[in-house]
Amino acid sequence: MKHTTVHDCQIIDIRKYTDSRGYLSVIEGGIDVPFDIKRIYYLYMVPEAARGAHAHKDLKQLLVATSGSVDITLDDGHEKKTFHLDRPWKGLLVVPGLWRDLDNFSGGTVLMCLASEHYEATDYIRDYEEFLKYKGL
Ligand code: TYD
Repeated sequence: MKHTTVHDCQIIDIRKYTDSRGYLSVIEGGIDVPFDIKRIYYLYMVPEAARGAHAHKDLKQLLVATSGSVDITLDDGHEKKTFHLDRPWKGLLVVPGLWRDLDNFSGGTVLMCLASEHYEATDYIRDYEEFLKYKGL
């Protein structure tokens, strides 16, 4: 997945059901996201310092700020695009092959990630120069 761009990513509206008892949102693998969900992890109690600063070779993800807000900057080596997640029904679909930086976490943010694969350390590119090489740049 070397030839992806930031334009392959988008914010989607997650299904929600509302009544007098409040809101309920649902994400089903293969229905609400274009992959089967193999793993869920979440970031919380994040201090000032930013996270991210890596790319994935094959992993597809849906990122959801279930509480609070965060900025996610995606970078394909040519172009950068920043997405602001600030509602539990907004999800950012992230294709593989993009560098990402996460910052401006508001206090109490919980950022949930639904992932297409189990954890695999070899799927990570953590060096930006190596990332550019991977993209053929
Ligand atoms: P890391 O990838 O460094 O976090 P970030 O996404 O902010 O770059 O992950 C931190 C630690 O958690 C690292 O030791 C690996 C471990 N980890 C797992 O064991 N499984 C997982 O699914 C994830 C996402 C991380």
